[in-house]
This record gives sequence, C-alpha cells and structure tokens, in this order.
Amino acid sequence: MEDFGTIKKVEIGKDLDAENEKYICDVEFQDNEDVRKVQIMNMSGVNVRPRVGQKILVLDLGGGFEIGIATDDMIDADLEDGEIEIYSIDSNGAKSGKVKIKPNGELVLNDGTDYAVKYSKLESEFNKLKDDFNSHVQNYNSHTHVTTATVDAGLVGSIAATTSTSSPSSPDITQTKVDKVRI
Ligand SMILES: [Fe+2]
Repeated sequence: MEDFGTIKKVEIGKDLDAENEKYICDVEFQDNEDVRKVQIMNMSGVNVRPRVGQKILVLDLGGGFEIGIATDDMIDADLEDGEIEIYSIDSNGAKSGKVKIKPNGELVLNDGTDYAVKYSKLESEFNKLKDDFNSHVQNYNSHTHVTTATVDAGLVGSIAATTSTSSPSSPDITQTKVDKVRI
C-alpha cells in the first residue's frame, strides 16, 4: 500500500534493523491527517536530506514499517527536453546551489555566467608572460647608452637611444577556456 503525504519534521534515527542512521520523517498523510514515522530510502550513491514541506511518496512494507521512496519540492518543471538538474533548497524553499547537465553536453554550475578554465594551460601561458617580463627587466637593468661626450670634460655631446634587446611577449589564453563547463 502506498500513500502520499507531507513532511512535517526531519531527524536522524536508526533504521528498522537499528544498524544504520537514516533520515526519519514525521509525515502527515492527506487522507486522514495522521502523522507517522517514515524512514527515507535514498538511491544508492545519493544522500538527500529531506526538507519540511516536501511531498513524499510512502510505501507500507507491513509490520508498521513505512519507507519514503520519493520526495517532491513542488517546484515548476522548467528544464529542456532531456536536461538533468541537481539542486539544493534554501530555507525559503527556493532552488539554491545547482548543477545542470544540458542536452548539448554543457555542464552548468549555479548561474553559469562564465566559463571554467584549464589550469595547466593557463599556468603555461602565465609563466610565458612572467618569463618574458622578467627577461625584459633583466635587459632593462643592464642596459647602457653610447655617448659622444667626453666624461668629466664638460663638453656637450649626444647620448644614443638604447638598442632594444627585448622582444614582445605573446601569451595566448584562448585555449584555456572550457566551452562545455560554465560556472
Ligand atoms: Fe635608459
């Protein structure tokens, strides 16, 4: 026998075998408005703590043992065909942190207004810029000028411009952008 109810309280307690700690909910059922203790059975590999106010589908296994096998936040269905979303709920019952897997293969974390970067490629281009800059500093610190004046003679002479020994730096970080992961 299955029943549909509303979660009124969530706590951690022992399961039927008193071996493992599980989420135990007080669930109010719509038909007769009684409140009963229900153990949450999550999918393997998923740890979801239910929230007060969620709708819950409960399965009666007999012997006074009931398990909650599915919960619903009663939030609008707003995904594209084939899209998957994992989210948390804030204290106001609204979606908070979320991960979306889009049908086009994009992985979107939270609002997804920017893109993830590849660290190793970014590090490589940054180091290129750093090395070029340090090389330029070294050239600058050791540069000299050629003069036609006689030192200490008080004569007017001219000083030649420095002969440049530095090269332009050309780091390129376009390859660090991860098109398929938005953050
Ligand atoms: Fe100079």
